[in-house]
Amino acid sequence: MSYEPFSIRYRPRVFGDVVGQDKIVTALRTKLEAKTLGRTILLSGPHGSGKTTLGRIIAMAVNCQNPQNGDPCLTCSSCKRMASGAANAHSGLIEMNAAGDRGIDMARNIIERVRFQSREKMRVIILDECHQLTSQAQAALLKTLEEPPARSMFILATTEPESLIPTIRSRCLPLKLKHVAVLDSAKLVYKVMKKEGVQVTKAHQEAAKKIAAAVNGHPRDALQLLERVIGSLDFDESDDDIDQLIESMSEEIMDISPEKLAFNYVDALVDNAASDAFQVTRRVSDRPDLFIGIAMDIVRHWGYAVSGAKKMMDPHWNRYVSKLQDNHEEVSTNDIYALFSAFFAAYGECKKYVYRPSDVLFRLTLKGLSIV
Ligand SMILES: Nc1ncnc2c1ncn2[C@@H]1O[C@H](COP(=O)(O)OP(=O)(O)O)[C@@H](O)[C@H]1O
Ligand SMILES: [Mg+2]
Ligand SMILES: [Zn+2]
Repeated sequence: MSYEPFSIRYRPRVFGDVVGQDKIVTALRTKLEAKTLGRTILLSGPHGSGKTTLGRIIAMAVNCQNPQNGDPCLTCSSCKRMASGAANAHSGLIEMNAAGDRGIDMARNIIERVRFQSREKMRVIILDECHQLTSQAQAALLKTLEEPPARSMFILATTEPESLIPTIRSRCLPLKLKHVAVLDSAKLVYKVMKKEGVQVTKAHQEAAKKIAAAVNGHPRDALQLLERVIGSLDFDESDDDIDQLIESMSEEIMDISPEKLAFNYVDALVDNAASDAFQVTRRVSDRPDLFIGIAMDIVRHWGYAVSGAKKMMDPHWNRYVSKLQDNHEEVSTNDIYALFSAFFAAYGECKKYVYRPSDVLFRLTLKGLSIV
């Protein structure tokens, strides 16, 4: 069997294994059981909060021959076929991503895919990063989304529901995922520890919490950190050793977590530390728009904090915002506004692919340095 990182091996396959999204999970179970789930769903929420995971569970559940409490049974022939992931013209699940392919041809491609029915009961299309579609492409999809062809279903996933045209949004069942809280993430880590055969003691329970806290609750990062910790454990480790391991590794992992990178970037820009800022951009490889998006979230919440709009703040960003406030007391709301505008413009450009992404980051860095 090929090697699978924990985050793939332990991707939840039933609703009960999804942590931190209880409201949505309950709503989905109820609708699935009552067979009242609509055929156009919009899953929105932060990166790594479980959108793709939930989309796949829904796809399995609607096709399962013997669903239990809304969950797919995982043992019927349909569940088995779906789990094997054989993607072909007959399969019940097609995953598409609008990040690279955003235009009208993509919309046509999507419509084409549901013209032929699947061998499963329902053909489910998961359209990831759907906000990246041009508004023309979105408009072309309207009719299909409003009334999907027989035995087909659409699950749109996005980190940015606001960027969808309103007519699309109004046609979907909106389900908004949250940042996974540290304690929920700790439960996940603890469960996986047990599944990995770690003899779980009280110290391990504490360790699970520390791991989850080190990555601010992010499930994928938490599993990645756990995997490294377990890989480095000796058989005769003491509780102290575990503590130390987690401490040293969490720093490593935190350094590569997108949130930490984005925070470092903003921090360096405001410090006018050109070389630090460029160091960070060098490490942003594939998706600069996601990176800039996270940095924007941080700057926006910083703006809320500085202008006293505490009500607008999502507590998830507190730790970054309070560090920025400590490090840069002198920064005014005007500075923050200017910085945000620079990010906003760069974000739009990344999405249009007008420049090579590294050029956008280059220019954003120079611009940002001159602002504050
Ligand atoms: N709510 C969650 N509960 C349990 N595991 C999760 C959750 N969210 C994410 N994960 C883990 O992180 C990985 C990536 O999640 P994914 O569903 O692809 O996130 P998204 O599509 O929202 O970016 C999954 O394979 C899973 O291991
Ligand atoms: Mg996803
Ligand atoms: Zn089944």
